Amino acid sequence: MPGLVIIGAQWGDEGKGKITDYLAEDAEMVVRFQGGNNAGHTIIVDGKTFKLQALPSGVLRPDKTAVIGNGVVINMEEMEGEIKRIVDAGGSIANLKISDRAHLIMNYHKKLDGAEEKYRGNKPVGTTKKGIGPAYQDKISRIGFRVGDLYEEDLLKEKISFMIPYKKDLLDMMDAEKCECTNGSLFAKMMRWRDMVDGLVCDTSVLINDALDAGKKIVFEGAQGAMLDIDHGTYPYVTSSSTCAGGACTGAGVAPKKIDSVIGCLKAYTTRVGEGPMVTEMEGEEEEELQRLGGEFGVVTGRGRRCGWLDLVQAEHSTRLSGFTSIAITKIDVLCGYKEVKVCTAYEIDGDVIRHFPASLSKIEAAKPVYKTMKGWEGWNDTAEVVRNGYEALPEEMRSYISLIEESLKVPVDIVSVGPGREETIVRRNPWHS
Ligand code: IMP
Repeated sequence: MPGLVIIGAQWGDEGKGKITDYLAEDAEMVVRFQGGNNAGHTIIVDGKTFKLQALPSGVLRPDKTAVIGNGVVINMEEMEGEIKRIVDAGGSIANLKISDRAHLIMNYHKKLDGAEEKYRGNKPVGTTKKGIGPAYQDKISRIGFRVGDLYEEDLLKEKISFMIPYKKDLLDMMDAEKCECTNGSLFAKMMRWRDMVDGLVCDTSVLINDALDAGKKIVFEGAQGAMLDIDHGTYPYVTSSSTCAGGACTGAGVAPKKIDSVIGCLKAYTTRVGEGPMVTEMEGEEEEELQRLGGEFGVVTGRGRRCGWLDLVQAEHSTRLSGFTSIAITKIDVLCGYKEVKVCTAYEIDGDVIRHFPASLSKIEAAKPVYKTMKGWEGWNDTAEVVRNGYEALPEEMRSYISLIEESLKVPVDIVSVGPGREETIVRRNPWHS
């Protein structure tokens, strides 16, 4: 079972980092396949805290190869700072491999992201303003810079002389912050980036496929979540990449038949950052309470996350799109102490009961959650003991909650995360060994 994909089953921030870290233990390679520095992760190694956005988390595990696949958009400037912090702390990035087909996020992309948000007036997407959307726009428009271009100086100069006047005009037209760079300064900067990544750039699809063919275990680590998928999410309140399992094939250059398992990370309740509909969203004190209990504040933006009850209509959508073979339920410990917990099992839209997540934004906005109310459960003092005693010793009501998820989604909950630490995890069936 060498190819395993990890996907966020909601709107991101499901705790994929912890599950990836746990499953990467047995893997030889960890691959990012979409998104960019809009995803952030905090990693603690030997007591030192690293906040990574442009680099994949796997880079801090010297015994594994960390891969940035072709589907990722890379902010080299941010990566430069992150590399420096790792090197200054005595680490190395020698285990990093970067696809020559990955696209670059440029400064003008960030400026355009901010300007587009302003143009949307009272209906912004609520992006991270990292330039993700504009970088993918250039990719789709077939004008973007790719990592491999750094090695073709004539091509690079030609692209730069097209790009600078084009983006300057665009920024002027949008009344955005000006782009101060010249052809020469941008070329010099890109040569510095080439020196930085020299020796790390390759055809990562070949690297990954060779490893899979040799039976090596590979984790494909999704960023964001299924509901932020450009095709299947709550469009236009989405990110600009394919966040579902299919994105691993296009974004890493592997065939579908090479993927054996897909783990859906499902937070025991729902959160969302940025704008867009969220049917089970709470209000007022109820929301603030869950936000506080779950520590629901963004790593990249610091924004408080919107919170709500678990939504099985939404979870069915992401389960179907990615074909989860297992679910890892996260942060279920956050719900300990609630007298009652609610789970949304259907939507009521204009008097009709709906069980599939609609495409139409106005329908999603009009949807009223149909809740099943369940008895809550008490917490515990000693998580280590809870983990030692295993799944059957978890509170009965918590297990009923998990059973409802399994029955509704028809996927086993194989991993139950009961705390932030790696050891605070109950594994009912290890996806590598199935
Ligand atoms: P963008 O990816 O910066 O274009 O932002 C588009 C939407 O995706 C916004 O609602 C962001 O808040 C959301 N988003 C992007 N990255 C993440 C993430 O890593 N976690 C949660 N939400 C994200």
